[in-house]
Amino acid sequence: MLTVKQLDVKGKRVIVRVDFNVPLKGGEIRDDNRIVAALPTIKELIAKGARVILMSHLGKVKHKEAPEVVEEQKKKNNMAPVAKRLSELLGQEVVFVPVTRGEELEKAANALKDGQVLLMQNTRYEKGEEKNDPELAAIWAKLGDAFVMDAFGSAHRAHASTYGIPELLKKEHKPVAVGYLVEKEVANLTRCVDVKPSDRPYVAILGGLKVSDKIKVIDSLLGKCDKILIGGAMAFTFFKALGHSTGTSPVEDDQLEYARNCFAKAHGKIVLPVDTIVGDSFDPAERTTISILPSVDVPEGFQGLDIGPKTRELFANEISKAKMLFWNGPMGVFEQEEFQKGTLAICEAASELKDAFTVCGGGDSAAAIKQFGYAKKFSHVSTGGGASLEMIENDGHLPGIDVLK
Ligand code: 3PG
Repeated sequence: MLTVKQLDVKGKRVIVRVDFNVPLKGGEIRDDNRIVAALPTIKELIAKGARVILMSHLGKVKHKEAPEVVEEQKKKNNMAPVAKRLSELLGQEVVFVPVTRGEELEKAANALKDGQVLLMQNTRYEKGEEKNDPELAAIWAKLGDAFVMDAFGSAHRAHASTYGIPELLKKEHKPVAVGYLVEKEVANLTRCVDVKPSDRPYVAILGGLKVSDKIKVIDSLLGKCDKILIGGAMAFTFFKALGHSTGTSPVEDDQLEYARNCFAKAHGKIVLPVDTIVGDSFDPAERTTISILPSVDVPEGFQGLDIGPKTRELFANEISKAKMLFWNGPMGVFEQEEFQKGTLAICEAASELKDAFTVCGGGDSAAAIKQFGYAKKFSHVSTGGGASLEMIENDGHLPGIDVLK
C-alpha cells in the first residue's frame, strides 16, 4: 500500500477522505480530536504543494424520511463549523464548498492553487453516499488526480467516498494511498489481531450496552486472547443466560443462547463481574436509591449501573498480568459521577502497566479516557469505535483499507 509520504503530488488535486464526524451541539464542536488527528496528513500534502480536497461525513442523514426531516438533518449536520475549526488549526484559509456536486464544487476544486485546502459539504447530503452509488463516486472521483484515505473511523464503511472513489481512481491508474492516521491505526490494531508470543498474556476488556454489537468481536477475541473481562450493561445478558436475576437491567433476550454458548466454550477465559452497583432508576432525577450489591443478582425494580468494588479489584488484578490490552466499552454509566468508578478502575489499572501495549478501541471508552485524563497513558487510543471492532472481527481487514491495496 502506498502511503501519503511516498506520493509525489505537487500541483495535483488530491481527494482526502477524512473522518470529521465530530460531536456538535448547537453548531459548536464539542470535541475536535478527529480534526486534530487528520492534521499530519493534511499538512504533509500542503507541504508537498498538493491541492487538497477534503471530504467527510458528519452525523446521519436518513434519506428515507420525509423531505422536511431530511432538510432538518442536513441543517444539523452542516460541515461549515468544521471548516472554520480546521482553518484555525491549520492557520490558513480553508475554502468551504456548501454543496456536494455541481458547478460550484468543480469550479472551486479547479481554482485551488498549490498548497490550498478545500472542504466539501457533508458527503451524506447525497443519498448515494451510503449505497456506494457508482454515478456519485464517478462525479467525486473526477475532482481528483489522487486519493488519500485518512478516515480510519469510516474505513469499515464501503461508501462512495471511502470505497467508490479509490476503486475508480485505481482503475484509471491514479495513485491511492493511506494517510498518517490510518497508517498508525492499522499498525496498532494489527498488533491486537496478529498476536505475538511476547504480547501475552493478552487481555481484552469489553463493556457498553449491547452484546449483539459485539458478538463477532467476542468470538474473534476468544481465539486470540488469554482473558476477556466483560463489564458494562452487556454483562447482564450473560448473567440472565447463566440464571441470575437481572431486575430492570438492559438484557438482550434474543442473545441469551449466544451468551450461554459463548460462556461455555470460553472455558474460563471470560471473566464476569462478581458484584454490582445498582440503582432504582437510570435517570438521576427519578432515582432514590443506589446500593452496592455483594452479588450479581439484581433485585426487582433495580438495575446494574456499574461494576462493584470486588469486581474492580478482580479486573485490576487480571489487567496487572497483561502484556497487551484491548479495551472497548465502559464498565458503567460513567457519564454520571456515581457510576464512574468501574471505568476509572480500568483506566488506572491500564496506566499502571509497565512495558505493556495498551489499546483503547475508540467510542465511549475513548471518551471516558479523555474525560478522566488518561489519554496519554495508553499506547494507542483509536479514533474509530466501529472500525476498530470490525478490524478485530475481520482479522485485520476493512473495506476502506483493503480497496487501496
Ligand atoms: C464513527 O463515528 O464511528 C464514524 O465516523 C462512523 O460513523 P457512522 O457509524 O455514522 O458511519
